[in-house]
Amino acid sequence: MHPLPLDPESVKGFMPASEGAELYRAVSLAPPALPCLEIGSYCGKSTIYLGAACQRSGRVLFAVDHHAGSEEHQPGEGYFDPELASADGQGVDTFGAFRRTLRGAALEDTVVPIVAPSAAAARAWATPLGLLFIDGGHSRAAAQADYAGWVPKLAPGGILLIHDIFPNPADGGRPPYELWCQAQESGDFEVLGLFETLGMLRKRGASSAGA
Ligand SMILES: C[S@@+](CC[C@H](N)C(=O)[O-])C[C@H]1O[C@@H](n2cnc3c(N)ncnc32)[C@H](O)[C@@H]1O
Repeated sequence: MHPLPLDPESVKGFMPASEGAELYRAVSLAPPALPCLEIGSYCGKSTIYLGAACQRSGRVLFAVDHHAGSEEHQPGEGYFDPELASADGQGVDTFGAFRRTLRGAALEDTVVPIVAPSAAAARAWATPLGLLFIDGGHSRAAAQADYAGWVPKLAPGGILLIHDIFPNPADGGRPPYELWCQAQESGDFEVLGLFETLGMLRKRGASSAGA
């Protein structure tokens, strides 16, 4: 991995450096020239890895997040961060922090934020994707909606990344693991590896030479 433009450890979030390095590498495995898309940016920690790799290879990264936080980020929940409380104090707003990350990492020419529920963005999306990273809502409904809405947008040879896969239920929630199983059972993907909790697959089909 080349040096990153901003230390991801200076940004709030949920992407360990070892998995971040795999995100960076995954971009080089994606079919050339096609855009990449992240669902679930939070304050931009994972975006730094994907965005820096996209910038190096001349790609665009779309970053989808409504920036209102997931269930576990809300006031009173386990992952609530008071520094990210919304102006009215009723919820969460991570968009300001996300924009500061993009500016600090000089990624504004590469990362295109889409501030919307991921299902709404998926409904109108028509461009084939070279890489899709799923790290949005972790409820079963949210995870399934992300899979149904976005996985069909992957181009043949495209890379699918799923975060927070815990094969042992004692270690974490089931929905991302269920997506991981679903992708394999579909027969549409070749498994490239499970790196800690980051699953990496390649959609079967045309040539998949990296950029
Ligand atoms: C686990 S966090 C993402 C962590 C981030 N990838 C990182 O590296 O720190 C999940 C994010 O998904 C977003 N999210 C949850 N459900 C969503 C939905 N239905 N549409 C858009 N964004 C959603 C939340 O706002 C939150 O920022």
